[in-house]
Amino acid sequence: MIYLDNGATTISKPQSVAQAVYQVLSSGKYGNPSRGAYNAAVNASELVYATRQKVARLFNVPSSSLVVFTKNVTEALNTVIKGYLTPGDHVMMTVYDHNSVLRPIYQLAKRGVKNSCVPLNPETNLVDLNKLEAMIRPETKMMICTHASNVIGNLIDIKKVAEICHRHDILLVVDVAQTAGVIPIDMQELGIDILCFTGHKSLYGPEGIGGICFSRSIDIEPLISGGSGIDSYNHSMPNRLPEKLEGGTLNVPGIAGLGAGIDYLLSRGVKKQGEKAIKLADMFAHQINHNSNIKIYTNLAAPHVGTIGLNFRGINSVDISDYLNDYGIATRAGAHCAPLIHQALGTTTQGITRFSFCSFNTEEEVRQASRVINHLAKIVGEDSGR
Ligand code: ALA
Repeated sequence: MIYLDNGATTISKPQSVAQAVYQVLSSGKYGNPSRGAYNAAVNASELVYATRQKVARLFNVPSSSLVVFTKNVTEALNTVIKGYLTPGDHVMMTVYDHNSVLRPIYQLAKRGVKNSCVPLNPETNLVDLNKLEAMIRPETKMMICTHASNVIGNLIDIKKVAEICHRHDILLVVDVAQTAGVIPIDMQELGIDILCFTGHKSLYGPEGIGGICFSRSIDIEPLISGGSGIDSYNHSMPNRLPEKLEGGTLNVPGIAGLGAGIDYLLSRGVKKQGEKAIKLADMFAHQINHNSNIKIYTNLAAPHVGTIGLNFRGINSVDISDYLNDYGIATRAGAHCAPLIHQALGTTTQGITRFSFCSFNTEEEVRQASRVINHLAKIVGEDSGR
């Protein structure tokens, strides 16, 4: 199989990740972190602490206590959105955002939290940041945006967004699901107040682990209340990070796998790994770009990750993806849980076929995939008389 759905999850994890998960599950040495003073509980606490430090190093979080673990980026975003905004507040999102941002915001709309969306510039397929400042209201409390579209791969200029938000005292929350491990992210340098990540994509961890990184202690009402291992007589969650937002037993095997994934990445360099994925995606786009039966939506001249979104004339993207599957090429078609970008591009019926590369793909895979695509485009052209 040529696996080109790394935007959904990376499928081949480094051996060290699998070993780290296996070690926790099989060694009998890891108990429940922060739930006892015996060796196995302490081992688990130390492992969790060490992984918080790795996450902090990866994103330049000021302190490891500002790293909160969740089960994925969706839970991270729900925690932040629902725990910060109250009726009467206004929140801004973008046309690139995923349902993990949009649906919690739509849920809050029923409780009187207003929202606005920064639109697409149809000339460039980029988020039109020139429209952002005019959308700010006196009650705007939060700007939340993805770092890169999961459908077409183009980036949002976070530094520019941060500069505008901070001028108006608005909290900036960034979803780095598609960029963590692909683009070096220094949350302090970029001006990100809260960063939400998942572990199972380009951080090479297993599914079931993600998190929230805070630039400082920010008051968020917990989404989940429960055991925290400390302050048991308090009716509320302990009022300190990370415990406040980590009700219940942590996913220790997942945290171990995430830690090993970050080690792998940092030993090779995020920039180097990411550049390899982007180079492969660009090579792919170049090899199919001359074909008039193919429409590429990704703005290749603007910053992007290793994701290319395209269509073949009027053919449904699901049929294209099914055809490619017959050739052993795994892609994702349809709406990708990102409805607004499809509405803006006019692809709600057709969908888009997405090719997302990672550093484990090879140039030979790119050549094979583009040969199949060009062959398919030729058939499409012949069928339509072109
Ligand atoms: N959000 C993930 C994707 O883009 C699952 O495929």
